[in-house]
Amino acid sequence: MLRLALVFSLLFTLCLSSSAQNCSTYTSFSNNLSFSSCNDLPYLNSFLYWNYNSSSGCLEIAYRHTGVTTTNWVAWAINPNDLQTAMIGAQALVAFQLSNGSMRAYTSQISSYTTNLPEGNLQYSVSDLKATYANGEIVIYATLSLPINTTNINQVWQDGQVSNGSPEPHSGANSNINSKGTLKLLSGKSAASSGGSSIARNRNIHGVLCAIGWGILMPFGIIIARYMKVFKSADPAWFYLHVTCQTSAYIIGLAGWAVGLNVGSQTPGVQYTGHKTIGILLFILGTLQSCLPMAMVFCPYGVLRAIFVFLGISSLRSSSLVFHCCRQNSPV
Ligand code: HEM
Ligand SMILES: *[C@@H]1O[C@H](CO)[C@@H](O)[C@H](O)[C@H]1NC(C)=O
Ligand SMILES: *[C@@H]1O[C@H](CO)[C@@H](O)[C@H](O)[C@H]1NC(C)=O
Ligand SMILES: *[C@@H]1O[C@H](CO)[C@@H](O)[C@H](O)[C@H]1NC(C)=O
Ligand SMILES: *[C@@H]1O[C@H](CO)[C@@H](O)[C@H](O)[C@H]1NC(C)=O
Ligand SMILES: *[C@@H]1O[C@H](CO)[C@@H](O)[C@H](O)[C@H]1NC(C)=O
Repeated sequence: MLRLALVFSLLFTLCLSSSAQNCSTYTSFSNNLSFSSCNDLPYLNSFLYWNYNSSSGCLEIAYRHTGVTTTNWVAWAINPNDLQTAMIGAQALVAFQLSNGSMRAYTSQISSYTTNLPEGNLQYSVSDLKATYANGEIVIYATLSLPINTTNINQVWQDGQVSNGSPEPHSGANSNINSKGTLKLLSGKSAASSGGSSIARNRNIHGVLCAIGWGILMPFGIIIARYMKVFKSADPAWFYLHVTCQTSAYIIGLAGWAVGLNVGSQTPGVQYTGHKTIGILLFILGTLQSCLPMAMVFCPYGVLRAIFVFLGISSLRSSSLVFHCCRQNSPV
């Protein structure tokens, strides 16, 4: 039972960790800078790192954009107004590489969709602004002075090409239009705006479905089989309850898994390789676990059954889940 509890708590953490962050594994900031909070931004291979003191309004940020070349510009901005037309009114930090190889980092207040990002002061005071380029990554560093007690800001980020030392318009692709959201400075979590929320929402759906299917219903079904079976009065009710539980657990888990795959394909810049591998492995084991008992029920005698029993016992070595269901379901 202890082992079973262990397996399921592992499953549960896996489900919940689907909202885990990759940004936190990166620590190679220049000048030994370090940041207490970070977010994987949902579009454009971007990550935001920050330290914030709400009683002074002092916000130190590092905006990291991976997968860029020396001809890209990148920008991160706060929009104090709204997220509908988030580009207009954006208080932007812009960076790109100059032809002599040094990085230019400057501020630009955006007032129209035809801007070429001229340098200009922001409505916040900005200090320690600089940018680095290495290994296909641009990082913009800055310290901004926000109004005291600010807790949420609208953030916008973007990338584009530089031509003759001047930023060209960015693409109008979905990821360039949805690259905006609310940043909760105190919680370290990003609640994406209506435009950019579908990935965040799907990621939550994936986590919840997986947790309900694999993490709650499936262990519950096993507990039913294990502990209700001993009461004669509960026969055969326990079996139907158990089958219902395992079937719905599998269907819900399958749906969660599919949503997870979808999230994975929507966010090519953000990958959780370990999570993905374990998820796929568990899905295969879960499928075996659900199919084998069925096969045993419908095929109670003969060589096939022997094969199924053999398969069931082999996969026992990798997962105690499989074994339990095969055994518990066999008496019918
Ligand atoms: C070279 C400078 C830029 C030009 C010429 C430019 C042009 C445009 C245009 C024409 C659109 C409308 C596209 C459409 O609706 O299909 C747009 C949208 C957008 N741009 Fe830019 N842009 C520039 C820089 C930036 C920067 C620096 C940011 C962010 C830091 C940004 C963020 C956005 C966002 C989030 C949208 C989606 C609509 C919105 O929420 O306003 N843009 N841009
Ligand atoms: C960064 O920290 C290391 C070790 O703590 C130190 O040797 C180095 O001088 C520091 N570099 C800067 C730029 O502060
Ligand atoms: C935050 O800012 C306040 C006001 O300037 C200051 O007194 C306090 O020491 C700061 N806290 C930290 C952790 O830096
Ligand atoms: C590159 O050019 C900019 C201005 O054009 C200048 O400020 C900067 O010092 C130059 N950097 C190097 C390394 O020469
Ligand atoms: C900031 O919040 C603190 C605590 O809620 C409050 O005492 C203070 O007056 C606020 N300051 C401003 C400038 O709003
Ligand atoms: C997570 O971040 C690390 C450190 O920057 C990076 O090397 C790795 O590629 C990221 N993970 C994936 C699979 O994208």
